[in-house]
Amino acid sequence: MNPTFRQLKIFESVARLLSYTKAAKELYLSQPAVSMQIKLLEEQTTLPLLERIGKKFYLTTAGEEVYRYARNTISQKKDIEETIEQLKDLQTGHLNIAVASTANHFVIRLLAAFEKLYPKIRISLDVTNRSALLKQLDNNERDLVIMGQPPHDSQLQSIHFLDNPLVVIAAPKHPLSLKTTQISLNKLSKERFIVREEGSGTRIASEKFFKDHQIPFNTTMDMSNNRAIKHAVEEGLGLAIVSLHTLEIELRAQSLRVLNIKDFPIMRKWYLVESKNKRLSPIAKEFKSFLLQQAEHAMEKLVIEN
Ligand code: PGA
Repeated sequence: MNPTFRQLKIFESVARLLSYTKAAKELYLSQPAVSMQIKLLEEQTTLPLLERIGKKFYLTTAGEEVYRYARNTISQKKDIEETIEQLKDLQTGHLNIAVASTANHFVIRLLAAFEKLYPKIRISLDVTNRSALLKQLDNNERDLVIMGQPPHDSQLQSIHFLDNPLVVIAAPKHPLSLKTTQISLNKLSKERFIVREEGSGTRIASEKFFKDHQIPFNTTMDMSNNRAIKHAVEEGLGLAIVSLHTLEIELRAQSLRVLNIKDFPIMRKWYLVESKNKRLSPIAKEFKSFLLQQAEHAMEKLVIEN
């Protein structure tokens, strides 16, 4: 017996619907074409597969067996096709992610390692602030979003995968950098701060910290990215609160100092956020598990000695 896939597919439809007419309609074939294929199949089995009693068709015992075989064959073919599609996507798929600008530093490091494993994929990375990320989540625009505190939304799934300590930085010549003992919050209230733009998660957390501790937050400038802020602090324009994750180069070069201040760091967290309504592509799924496994390890390498 050597049935073709086409014969099995037609038989599966007839056996499921117990009707040549309905099967022909489902498969966009003529009824004689369906009957012909069933006849050819029956010639191979040398046993009838269907019998007609009154107006109704029934599967014979041989028909039941061939039906089971046909269903298995069809589902195996589907599995193979899906696996091949997934493998293709892992080779040449498109990873579409958005990250909070502060997360950019470690995400790029992880992307570089991921890209080595899948060198032919295309990556779109939007680096933006918290309020823009919230809009992108609302519009379901990205596969995955990496951000600080995600919104309470039953349509979103968020996984906390890394801590994000916010620290106070100063130029090495700043008087507070020379202090060897812990600095009080009261002292901080007398300093000028350069802050991130409105909508930044770092800014929201910093403002909340000062409000919760009931001390004035003396902000003189705002800038839309961490790099500009770090540069301004190096130039002695004031102090700033930034994520420790953004400071690798400056701490290594000793061009900035992390101050030892009471109640610091402010502990924020990094979350991986996805929409429950969106089916992740194989490459996005792969990046998600890579990130969850590797993030902590990547951050261990960060130089944090001050
Ligand atoms: P930000 O995000 O880059 O918008 O400040 C960081 C965060 O949400 O903690």
